Amino acid sequence: MKAIVTEFNSVGDILILPLFEGIDKAPNNALAGLSRTQRSLVNEALASDSFSGKVGKQLGVWTAGCQVVLIGMGKSPSDKACRDGGAKTLANLSKDHGTEITVRFTTGWSTSKMALFAEGMILRDYAFDKYQQKEDGENQGDWNLTCQASARHQSDLSAAVATSSAVATGVHLARELGNEPANVMYPEEYARRALEWAKGKANVEVEIWDYDRLQKEGMHGVVAVGKGSDRKPCMVFFRLNPGVQNNEQVPCIVGKGITFDTGGISIKPSAGMEDMKFDMHGSATVFGLFAALHASGHKGRVNGITCMAENMPSAGAYRPGDIIDTYSGKTIEVLNTDAEGRNVLADGLWKAGELNPSYIVDLATLTGACVVALGHEASGLWSNDDSLSSQIHAAGNTEDEIAWPMPLLPAFEKEMTGSKVADVQNLGKGRWGGACTAAGFLKQFVQERDGEQIPWAHLDIAGTAWGASTNAMVANGATGIHVRTLHRLITE
Ligand code: BES
Ligand code: MN
Ligand code: ZN
Repeated sequence: MKAIVTEFNSVGDILILPLFEGIDKAPNNALAGLSRTQRSLVNEALASDSFSGKVGKQLGVWTAGCQVVLIGMGKSPSDKACRDGGAKTLANLSKDHGTEITVRFTTGWSTSKMALFAEGMILRDYAFDKYQQKEDGENQGDWNLTCQASARHQSDLSAAVATSSAVATGVHLARELGNEPANVMYPEEYARRALEWAKGKANVEVEIWDYDRLQKEGMHGVVAVGKGSDRKPCMVFFRLNPGVQNNEQVPCIVGKGITFDTGGISIKPSAGMEDMKFDMHGSATVFGLFAALHASGHKGRVNGITCMAENMPSAGAYRPGDIIDTYSGKTIEVLNTDAEGRNVLADGLWKAGELNPSYIVDLATLTGACVVALGHEASGLWSNDDSLSSQIHAAGNTEDEIAWPMPLLPAFEKEMTGSKVADVQNLGKGRWGGACTAAGFLKQFVQERDGEQIPWAHLDIAGTAWGASTNAMVANGATGIHVRTLHRLITE
């Protein structure tokens, strides 16, 4: 979708009028440029009982040459209601009327609420339909969005819409990577797409460590998980603005990239296993974040690491009982090959500690237990640093991508360091607190600096990466979760 901001001038194929409750006559400017007949059709609809302006209500008014849609916004909608309102509005539009959309913000709209409504429309404009045949005559054009508002809103609204559009390219990329099936999206395909994205971008570097390199470096966490698959594992490094701030600490974002998780030898039941194509959403978010930061013109240096592997059962697969010596030098006793995300992240997190990070954030579809705890409404957030945790929580709230603080208790760490044969074990004692013991495991791989652990936060996105029917920004499939949260965290 292309989105621009203008004053009230001509209208496109579809005119959207988001109106507050209690309005029964078209506000100034709302009908500018329409014919007398068109204006009276809209005014009659507004005055009728068919449109109340209550939140969630909408009414289409057919006029020759322009489909007018009245959107009820309620009395004083929250930020979330504005963003959701924009998203739901776009979801209900049909391209049968053409693809030029005009949205007119009139009485009662603040610049920031306009921006949120527009952002909702922009974010919702994504569909994963490339593997489906199209109907004859179906309009395949992209939407063009013109947001119209009075003169005093122009510069702030233009800037906000431009930023939302830039960030949305990253959100949509993350969804696309997440939605690709595992026969298409395997570790080296992800790497290929990252290299292709970086090509020709002067302030971006992407480096791949392939299977041989991983073995040479001693990254046996990633190697072990990937061994069972014909699709070899790899590690992808993202660097934005590598030429600046070279002596400064900068953020490092780490993603779990299991392109398919069968569970391996500890194989999963078949029901719902198809969803495990989304098990690389942590890595999809990292890639999408870098695309968003680049598109929005971020000037600071940022590092990203994604740990890519496919977890398959085969003669070459790792097994329960195996002991892996990881990049950190610590060994892991494998008690369940389905607890594979933490094994690959062990290497990624330790590597992140070598990059002089100001802080490390990892994202992973790590545990079913996190979905039990928080459903699809929030990601779990664990951190060894209260200030980092509250910054992520606040950024998540602003973006309506809730990251809910969870406890990193010493008892959980103790469970994971109690192995009789290795330094850590990849399974807790029982199933209680499974998301917390997983976080306690990851903490073992965060390096210290000056006698203290580097600030680190872990986001378990198992419940939010897909399947959230309450997320109005997305129709179905991968959500692109936390691209916006982390973009805000890093750029604010
Ligand atoms: N990728 C899964 C976690 C998952 C499950 C995400 C369901 C989303 C929905 C992860 O690799 C996994 O299998 N975790 C195990 C850990 C257990 C063996 C300790 C789990 O949650 O059952
Ligand atoms: Mn698993
Ligand atoms: Zn997994």
